[in-house]
Amino acid sequence: MPTWSQAIAKPAEEFPLKPLSILSGEIPDGLRGSLYRNGPARLERGGQKVGHWFDGDGAILAIHLSEEGATATYRYVQTEGYQKEAEANRYLYPNYGMTVPGLFWKTWGKEVKNVANTSVLALPEKLLALWEGGNPYGLDLYNLETKELDNLVNLKENEPFSAHPKIDPKTGNIYNFGMSIGAKVTLNLYKSDPTGKVIQKSDYSLEGVPLIHDFTLAGPYIIFFVPPVRLKLLPTALGFSSFSDAMEWKPELGTDILIFDRNSLSFITKGKADPWFQWHYSNGYVNEQGNIIVEIVRYPDFSTNQNLKEVPTGNIKTPAKGTLWEIEIDPKTAKMIRQEQLLDRGSDFPIVPTHQTGENWRYTYLSVHRENADLSKEILGVIARYDRQLNKLTVADMEENLYASEPIFVPNTPNSARGWVLTVVYDGNEHRSELRIYDSEGLDNRPICRLGLPNVIPMGFHGTWKAG
Ligand SMILES: [Fe+2]
Repeated sequence: MPTWSQAIAKPAEEFPLKPLSILSGEIPDGLRGSLYRNGPARLERGGQKVGHWFDGDGAILAIHLSEEGATATYRYVQTEGYQKEAEANRYLYPNYGMTVPGLFWKTWGKEVKNVANTSVLALPEKLLALWEGGNPYGLDLYNLETKELDNLVNLKENEPFSAHPKIDPKTGNIYNFGMSIGAKVTLNLYKSDPTGKVIQKSDYSLEGVPLIHDFTLAGPYIIFFVPPVRLKLLPTALGFSSFSDAMEWKPELGTDILIFDRNSLSFITKGKADPWFQWHYSNGYVNEQGNIIVEIVRYPDFSTNQNLKEVPTGNIKTPAKGTLWEIEIDPKTAKMIRQEQLLDRGSDFPIVPTHQTGENWRYTYLSVHRENADLSKEILGVIARYDRQLNKLTVADMEENLYASEPIFVPNTPNSARGWVLTVVYDGNEHRSELRIYDSEGLDNRPICRLGLPNVIPMGFHGTWKAG
């Protein structure tokens, strides 16, 4: 079995707030605040494995860096489903990659469990654990105690709040979306004030049920690329097939480009492009010619879903390679004018400095495969910075058997392009986890600081930084 599989072989163990020991270096003086990361931490219950990596119950890691040093805590999100299943010691709910175990007529129509495992949003008064199929869970920012399912004042129960909100760097307003599946399939758009309260909504009807995971802001526009994946409704409605297994790759449909107005959240226009699949966008902006530029990690098809389905087994059989692409769009027609692969290295989890959201930027930070990694066995192992100006990739090449999570960029001073890059690393040689802090200008140098974590933190999905 590959080394990374040891990190997820057993359900992760929580720990209460504890001081962290410094393994090497020093915590930089200007780095004060909290790092939060979310991810599936429990991939089996009562001897049964989840059906897909996305089904694992979410646990959140908080690392607080203050004048007194570093402390951390790691806690499962106490969702209603998690508590009920813990009590029963078996899975009770269907999920993205799971049907309900047990007798069909007893379990038909059961609600999917909110696993709260995908990302986090740090608001002034609370932390939100995000999942794309439902409302977020609110948690205490310091000790991660779960408070309640949070509707951000104005969300209805059937209005999910997806896991990739974007914060307007000028106003602090938060943009997000959620897909509702009912008699109609609706793409709901939301704008929240900086406290998280939803203050504006719009909705747009979709044809069929596509998989939409993320979006981007680009100047005055909101952009969605709707990939040609559609859910077969009947087998899922009857409970014969999980959502994941009923997702059909239909390249003949192509990718739909949807453009909305950022101010009014209203639909502007729709265009078509080649078929591709993406989970994540780095960013977008409007260039000097008035065209929309969007950077994404693009896969040639939907085999990435099968690849991620295989992760909980520890034994990947299906390779999937996403690479960084730039797409240029005419905002009047939503027509794709140009598409260009920027890098050949397999990658995902692209992020940009948050103060450049929706605007032109220079550096994209992302997770990449090690050079010559066997993609039919390996998961993303290291982090890197892509310099869009010089077309140059700088890789933080870690020791063998180390696995870095998504990079998080923290500017040295507000709006600075230079800063620190934080990543939680699983060290498969020692079977333990640590936080690494790199200088953004020296990713290929040794980390500035390494902090040891009390327990293994399994590889997860997304995180955020809240300045202290
Ligand atoms: Fe994501």
